[in-house]
Amino acid sequence: MAIPFFSIDLKLIDLISIIKDILLPYNKKKNENKFKELLQKRYPNRYISLLPSARLGFYLSLKFLLKKNDEVIFSSMSFPLYVKIAKQLDLKIILVDVLEKDLNIDVSKIEEKINKNTKAIIATHLFGYPCEIEKIKNICKKHNLLLIEDCAQSFNSKIKNIETGNFGDVGITSTSLLKIPTTLSGGILISKNKELANKVNEWQEMNLKDNLSLKFKLFIKVILSILNSYPKIYSILSDKIFNFLFKYNPKIYRKILYSGMGVKELKYDPLERPELAKYQITIGISQLNRCDEMNKIRKMHSVFFQETFKKYSNIIVINNHFEDEWNHQYFVILIKKDFAKINKELFKLGVHAMDENVWDCSKYNFDIKNKKEVFPITEMVNGKLLRIQNNSFLNKKNIQEIAQKIINGNNKV
Ligand SMILES: Cc1ncc(COP(=O)(O)O)c(C=O)c1O
Repeated sequence: MAIPFFSIDLKLIDLISIIKDILLPYNKKKNENKFKELLQKRYPNRYISLLPSARLGFYLSLKFLLKKNDEVIFSSMSFPLYVKIAKQLDLKIILVDVLEKDLNIDVSKIEEKINKNTKAIIATHLFGYPCEIEKIKNICKKHNLLLIEDCAQSFNSKIKNIETGNFGDVGITSTSLLKIPTTLSGGILISKNKELANKVNEWQEMNLKDNLSLKFKLFIKVILSILNSYPKIYSILSDKIFNFLFKYNPKIYRKILYSGMGVKELKYDPLERPELAKYQITIGISQLNRCDEMNKIRKMHSVFFQETFKKYSNIIVINNHFEDEWNHQYFVILIKKDFAKINKELFKLGVHAMDENVWDCSKYNFDIKNKKEVFPITEMVNGKLLRIQNNSFLNKKNIQEIAQKIINGNNKV
């Protein structure tokens, strides 16, 4: 039996909530308000907007808050589409290298990049682990810069009990198909600025249409992804196809796996996704109610992984998974030697893990102001990171099997 790259963390209770939603005459506005109320508890004193994706929130925030030629600082390991969006809006991009310990921005290197044109810092909490956001916030205060938190992967991650998204002027989290919590595609904009929230909401009302064909496409994708979440079904439906592509057509294999990154298209299209449907909001509510319970199970899994891999000098665990304060949504290891061989071996053994070689923003064809600079830590880890799926959907046996196969793969090479 093969273990898929990822599983959507849905339980029967989430699906029952949809059936109830169809049968009972709740209206969409009521559900939206309930969802927002739950979110408001996490983000007190902030304005919340629900979106069809996090990327739309990012696009609109930059569009409404910055102007042409403003400079924006990103970490060199950020969501590449965000860099592309900033370029599309005629902003200038500066990259700053990351820290080895968590692959988040190296705060000590930020100030040397600030000049009179710098207007914003994008702080990414990569792989769910919070970056040093308090220090970044102080730098932003000192230089009067906008702070935008990319919380797409860090829902439920906290610093001194304050959830990410509460530190910046704007925080954007993703509730896409593979995120936790999921609305099967979606995003949440958390903003201090009432005017921005109003503009984002108005933009959505004016521009997003109830597009049936887009909704249908999304629905089919959702069904296929849910089915593929189950290792048994995945082994029948997709395992052979991925094996074939991995071996004979790595280009298409890569295209399928990373299609959600949005970097292949020439331009980001803010109208690419339909507005959130009622059933998506209903799932979101159910997921929010299970958030802490899911987090607890994920933590148990990741502590087990970390404990298990401790003995292997070739496997470095990124981030401390014994710590409480974050969401453990991604379990990422750095394989020091023979990454490609080990990944291949793992594939043969039936563990399909994500090769996380997509984050180095200096490697794309983006026009970056300090493109010639070397980012040593990013350079060192890029191409050696493997993401193992971790969610409450998997049981202890699945997790033990994954860990054992990684060890077998490592030992074999
Ligand atoms: C770090 C990061 N930022 C932003 C996004 C964009 O989120 P969405 O797919 O909801 O637009 C993602 C999605 O994977 C992400 O991982």
